[in-house]
Amino acid sequence: MSKNKILMCPPNYFSVDYVINPWMSGLTEPPDINKAHEQWNLLKDTISQYADIEIIEPQPDLPDMVFTANAGVVSGNKAIASHFMPHERRPEEPHFKSWFRKNGYDLLDLDEKIGFEGGGDCLFDRGGPWLWTGHGFRTEIEAHPEIANYFDVEVVPIKLIDERFYHIDTCFCPLTGGYIMYHPPAFDYDSRIAIETRIPPEKRIIVDTMDAGNFACNAVNLKNKIIVNSASAYLKEQLKQKDFDVIEVELSEFIKAGGSAKCLTLKLIDSVIPAVK
Ligand code: ARG
Repeated sequence: MSKNKILMCPPNYFSVDYVINPWMSGLTEPPDINKAHEQWNLLKDTISQYADIEIIEPQPDLPDMVFTANAGVVSGNKAIASHFMPHERRPEEPHFKSWFRKNGYDLLDLDEKIGFEGGGDCLFDRGGPWLWTGHGFRTEIEAHPEIANYFDVEVVPIKLIDERFYHIDTCFCPLTGGYIMYHPPAFDYDSRIAIETRIPPEKRIIVDTMDAGNFACNAVNLKNKIIVNSASAYLKEQLKQKDFDVIEVELSEFIKAGGSAKCLTLKLIDSVIPAVK
């Protein structure tokens, strides 16, 4: 079986210098950079037990580049690089694009006018052949047909309605075996119907407000391991009943910027998902 591969970016220049999501506003304490390094290293060491890690060089003055989920979205040797909605993150784009090119990926030339934030808003289902794609805050629905064409995959549009959950990966997580973990109030009515139509009740794990606020949906799932900032005893028990094993890695410093485990990673190879041709 092919091994998993994940892209990460060290937090050398990580900080909260601007406000582009509600988590970044009104911080009482700025992120502690030493603590951020410790947390990031522990996340990397934990993930490296289940996946190979690729590193992209961090860049000065790009404090959010650590969130590689937003580099783009990848399947096989095809990638779609992000075009950020907030201007603050646009200078990251050439770095991510050149990493994809240097590493042999074919890049789609997405229409310049369309906002698209990569793996933050694109999640391959782990049971069926479709891509859950968020829109509403950071990815525009106009990106969806381009993604569907390029990857030749069915895109299921999911509308996000709560600005605290501004990327789909903050409130939705496809799990091995076709399970999902999700926080229903983050989605509009039609999107909840789309989710419930595709995923049978016994495969849906509902994440409540407290767990969602602790970024429980922002998880890295590799086989039966779920690596996450934190999960309540109740959520852990529910996941255990489905044979998942939760590994908590505290990521408090990154939550100050509105991201945690999943945002700090981009799946380049996922052994349970067949790559597009
Ligand atoms: N501060 C970053 C932003 O607002 C956090 C990105 C989190 N990434 C994610 N995939 N949810 O863009």
